[in-house]
Amino acid sequence: MKNVVIKELLTSAVELARTAGEYALAAQRGTLKIESKTNEFDLVTHIDKYNEDLIRDAIAKKYPSHIFLGEESGASKNVGEIKWIVDPIDGTLNYAHQLPIWCVSIGIEVAGVIECGVVFDPSRDECFTTIRGGGSFLNEKEIRVSLQNDPKRSMYVTGFPYNIAEDPHNDIDRFGRFLRKGLIVRRLGSAALDLAYVAAGRFDGFYEGGLSAWDTAAGALMVREAGGMTTHFNGTPYSVYEQSIIASNGLQHQMLSEIILD
Ligand code: IPD
Ligand code: CA
Ligand code: CA
Repeated sequence: MKNVVIKELLTSAVELARTAGEYALAAQRGTLKIESKTNEFDLVTHIDKYNEDLIRDAIAKKYPSHIFLGEESGASKNVGEIKWIVDPIDGTLNYAHQLPIWCVSIGIEVAGVIECGVVFDPSRDECFTTIRGGGSFLNEKEIRVSLQNDPKRSMYVTGFPYNIAEDPHNDIDRFGRFLRKGLIVRRLGSAALDLAYVAAGRFDGFYEGGLSAWDTAAGALMVREAGGMTTHFNGTPYSVYEQSIIASNGLQHQMLSEIILD
């Protein structure tokens, strides 16, 4: 597909992410209707649903042949080459607790390859974009991963699944291995922002075990286009349709993989 078409799709995705993000930011200060999903820790607000409907309906209107995959409504029934992969609010728990650490994430896949994406953080007006072969950007300024190769001078980030209480061992053991080495690991609660921050060099690496396509569709490409690396825990090249991810500045990828797999 021609670059100009991908650029036009990215422009549309940015517009939608901004509209949804700004709407959600204004609504965050109001009364949120909160329900639980898979268990009592996994929440959804009426704004997650409103935003997903808004984005899905706008895509269906502008690009009727495109298909859609979103966290709240699942996959559309039509078949097609171009798929929009949407997390209407990534960091819902933060959002519901009035914390300013959440975003709207949209990735666009063409014939099985993620071609571009946006991660928009309305609380900071930070719009991260990426285009395959064209780099990654924060508010239109190119970003690169960090050049840090000393783990003692590094900062990593991770996340935990909502069902951690059902099988806590792997996640907690992995996290413990980092802590026992004295390494600094944050847990922000928004995987899409975690990835955007690796791309921007704010973090040197990110890992998490149980993610979905909508969490990473934009952010994983963003890391690679900023000069970093993404794999699964077992070292195979990253696909958004499998759950584990290690995303790093590249220099520390092997070291992070060893701690994760230890
Ligand atoms: C969650 C966040 C969190 C990660 C969870 C995700 P949600 O997404 O990205 O950082 O640890 O695994 O499910 O539910 O806020 O869209
Ligand atoms: Ca998410
Ligand atoms: Ca979400």
